[in-house]
Amino acid sequence: MRLDKFLVTTGCCTRSVAKKQVRAGAVSVNGVCPKSSDVNIDPETDTVTYCGKKVIYRKYTYIMLNKPEGYVSATEDGRDKTVLDLIPPEARTKGLFPCGRLDKNTLGLMLITDNGELGHKLLAPKSHVAKVYRFKSKFPVSEADAKRFESGLVLEDGYETKPALIELEGDGDEGLITLVEGKYHQIKRMLEALDNKITYLERLQFGPLTLDPALDRGEWRYLTEQEITELERHGGY
Ligand code: URA
Repeated sequence: MRLDKFLVTTGCCTRSVAKKQVRAGAVSVNGVCPKSSDVNIDPETDTVTYCGKKVIYRKYTYIMLNKPEGYVSATEDGRDKTVLDLIPPEARTKGLFPCGRLDKNTLGLMLITDNGELGHKLLAPKSHVAKVYRFKSKFPVSEADAKRFESGLVLEDGYETKPALIELEGDGDEGLITLVEGKYHQIKRMLEALDNKITYLERLQFGPLTLDPALDRGEWRYLTEQEITELERHGGY
């Protein structure tokens, strides 16, 4: 792997900064400062330091993205921009994919990883990973509808949803919804089953991950060591 890619994918800096830092002698590989950031290193065996600190190499990449409107949750799409288009090429590792789906007009927390095994475990229906959404609806949700929502609803295709949580705020036309499953357009269809309509949907939590308020729409960052540990625990590691 090229040294600049290594520094980007381990979250040290951007590619342009990597170039400058290597030239300035702030990066060492096995105790020697290379002159250029395009040298190849073996991340498994070489010891790299950045500004005097040992860089920890992780086999997998874990990214938190604040998804904006207008992007589809796919690795490629012939028509629309995908969430992967928001990740710069130097940070894109082989096999990177969005873990779960948000509709094109849904906003918020999206996990992007190249750890297929963990991703599939987190998405497996039997994992019951909780997802929390902020919603706004066209009409207020009555207490009676909230009870129906919470005990499980029958959708238009006959599917019976698992019990979900709805916490109403304001006049009842906004609040938080927690699901432990992820069927296609699930929240929109649940509100439709109550003769209502979602007008805003943003995911705030996915399992142990909480959307970082420092991320603007379209921005991303690598997960912290603690977030990765919690995520792996959720996946049964
Ligand atoms: N439910 C929906 O209807 N849409 C989403 O994007 C996520 C959950």
